Amino acid sequence: MDALPEHMNIMAAPEPAVAESLGGQGHLELDQVSKSYGHEHALLPTSFQVRNGEFVTILGPSGSGKTTILRLIGGFTQTSSGRILVDGKDITRLPPNRRPCNTVFQDYALFPHKSAAGNVGYGLMVRKVAKAEALRRVDEALQLVGLETMGQKFPSQLSGGQQQRVALARSLVCQPRVLLLDEPLSALDADMRRQMQQFLKRVQREIQTTFVFVTHDQEEAISLSDRIVVMSKGKVEQIASPYEIYYRPETHFVATFLGDNNLMDGTVRDGGGVDLPIGPVACATDGRGKGEKVYAAIRPERIGLARTIEAGKTGIECSVAEIGFAGAMTTVRVRPNSMPDLSLLVKVTSGRWIEDLTAGASVFATFDPADISVFSRTAP
Ligand SMILES: Nc1ncnc2c1ncn2[C@@H]1O[C@H](COP(=O)(O)OP(=O)(O)O)[C@@H](O)[C@H]1O
Ligand SMILES: [Mg+2]
Repeated sequence: MDALPEHMNIMAAPEPAVAESLGGQGHLELDQVSKSYGHEHALLPTSFQVRNGEFVTILGPSGSGKTTILRLIGGFTQTSSGRILVDGKDITRLPPNRRPCNTVFQDYALFPHKSAAGNVGYGLMVRKVAKAEALRRVDEALQLVGLETMGQKFPSQLSGGQQQRVALARSLVCQPRVLLLDEPLSALDADMRRQMQQFLKRVQREIQTTFVFVTHDQEEAISLSDRIVVMSKGKVEQIASPYEIYYRPETHFVATFLGDNNLMDGTVRDGGGVDLPIGPVACATDGRGKGEKVYAAIRPERIGLARTIEAGKTGIECSVAEIGFAGAMTTVRVRPNSMPDLSLLVKVTSGRWIEDLTAGASVFATFDPADISVFSRTAP
């Protein structure tokens, strides 16, 4: 790709020297942390660890307990039970300003009457950092976020994305060991949001501060995170890499919350594999016992379509129910001839023969049993 003109290159990676005095790396541990309001559980007992320099995202729908976790870590809300540790030190009872954490809020929370530099330097002033050092660190932080020429501007003179970058610089300048970010990009329009995602990821790679990032946006979580904590109703559903969360869900919620999926009821077979409505399939069952009721999930893009099937290969004879052209991909809904009540969603690369398909046409649906994920039908 050609280099962008200088003035457009707002996402340029910071010089390595800049990053040295910004941020720190902390190891965060939540040990059976919970929060109740009266009889209501905002967060059920939750344990997980975030490694030094890791980018972990807490993902879940509105009301699932994401902000509660962040506020508990930051010290803005008191735990009902459990312990929070950073680098092995128990911080559960420390006030927010004595925790090695900083928070970037969704609404930026900038001081309107202070310049960008004044906002970034505020925390250093409160901490009584010597003026010369404070000025140097503010400059470094503004440079890190690509705003070195905007230090004297006030928030009202900056775009949403620029204000968000001031908020980020303000949090990093105090060298937190863990940076907490609560839906920091949700106020931005789609284009700016994508740019800021790339930017955040780049900054995090550069300074390697431990990030705990909250979002309800599945794609954002998948593209940014080293690992994702999926939450629902105050409970952790699964903690894993984006790939595993997407292709190896362990609960019904995870399988259906992130993008389109095909879910079938199944029963574990004697000697391995699963009986599905489309027939027996030799997929992994992770030591589950014969007769166990499971769900089997397969992503639409892991099912292929073919007009004919080669000898020796297996495919399910289906009829096309619906076709939706979506640019590079085409979405096709098919119904197995042996099980017309079942509908499978298939996403295939667009192409001539797919374009020519019409509702009612006969096709074979093909898949690799290894692409089927099996998990229990009873909640853990
Ligand atoms: N101060 C509070 N008093 C009572 N209930 C609260 C309070 N804060 C949060 N909750 C409840 O806790 C649950 C989780 O909220 P929250 O962590 O803000 O969710 P999220 O950030 O995932 O949208 C919600 O049901 C919410 O109503
Ligand atoms: Mg929230």
